[in-house]
Amino acid sequence: MSFDFDHPPARLGTDSQKWQKYAGKDILPMWVADMDFKSPPAITEALVTRVAHGIYGYARPVQSTTDAIVAAMASRYGWKIEPTWIVWLPGLVVGLNVTAQAFAEPGDEVLTLSPVYPPFMTAPKNSSRVSRQVPFELVDGTWRINWEALERAVTPRTKLFYLCNPHNPLARVWRRNELEQLGAFCLRHKLVLCSDEIHCDLILNPELKHIPTALLSPEISSRTITLMAPSKTYNIPGLGTSFALISDAMRRTQFVRATAGIVAEVNVLGFTACEAAYRDSEPWRLALLDYLRGNRDHLLDFVARELPGVKVEAPIEATYLAWLNVAALNLPDPIAHFEKHGVGLSDGVFFGAQKGQYVRINFGCTRATLVEGLQRMKRAVKAT
Ligand SMILES: Cc1ncc(COP(=O)(O)O)c(C=O)c1O
Repeated sequence: MSFDFDHPPARLGTDSQKWQKYAGKDILPMWVADMDFKSPPAITEALVTRVAHGIYGYARPVQSTTDAIVAAMASRYGWKIEPTWIVWLPGLVVGLNVTAQAFAEPGDEVLTLSPVYPPFMTAPKNSSRVSRQVPFELVDGTWRINWEALERAVTPRTKLFYLCNPHNPLARVWRRNELEQLGAFCLRHKLVLCSDEIHCDLILNPELKHIPTALLSPEISSRTITLMAPSKTYNIPGLGTSFALISDAMRRTQFVRATAGIVAEVNVLGFTACEAAYRDSEPWRLALLDYLRGNRDHLLDFVARELPGVKVEAPIEATYLAWLNVAALNLPDPIAHFEKHGVGLSDGVFFGAQKGQYVRINFGCTRATLVEGLQRMKRAVKAT
């Protein structure tokens, strides 16, 4: 079956957060992590049928929705999960916040590695917990965990570790030995490990595989809160449907207790889309990965040849996001500069980078948009 990623409907003038940001301006939005593609036909068909039913009361997942998740975990990762482990959530950021409240007290510390998706740093602070970040190191063109610095960052108040697996914005797929070392670190310091795996079905390199952190060992599984969603892969973040997988019954109860009264239930359409995503959309996902690989390769080639002063420092192994070092351009405000030349990027500052050093580009768009965005970046670089 073939899918057309080149001709999606226009999003300008729609409810899209990504496109509304620059409404009325000639700026291509290449910032927030949603893609410009239509979702898989199987999702749209399932939603049309669900909408035609005409009744949208309070929802609860049916058996086939749970089965679709259980089957996807087994076939994709060899991970045998129990349906009882699933805690539905209206978003992964919600999951990060709930985890902080469930497993740390006010004043306790939550460790993470930076740069990282901003809510990893803000979620603890939202409920008076403390976020501590250990910077990644760039070693021989690979982003690495600085294990000594990580050890030094642990204090008696450290209770939690947030992992982004695979990593946004570094596009890194963690290898088994790295995950094992991280798991051992969390066990040694009795930390709860919160593993955000929202990008796990977007591994671009065929030779790499996603390893769910909780799959490493029963000991690590019992300390791990896995956060997942079909939202990034199938482009349905606007349907607010995510879940936590928690094998340890006591920790699951603690987590659920922290959601009480404040976390909204998943909506009727979200359950329908989730089931169609995991069960019926695999051919689409594989075609998407092909398309994204083409975009990634075009981006890498263009940056190397046409954008002097802009560097991709490490391989882009997963996601549709690229982390660009723009320090050599010596711009006090790179985002404003690129916007002036018609491209809307994400500022590395929000991910924990120094001002002026990094920007993130979203290449989950048509090839034509990417080509045009990069041409605009070329003009922006020339104008520095
Ligand atoms: C690592 C990571 N976690 C969570 C999210 C957002 O999840 P949600 O929209 O379900 O809150 C994103 C979105 O970019 C992300 O990259």
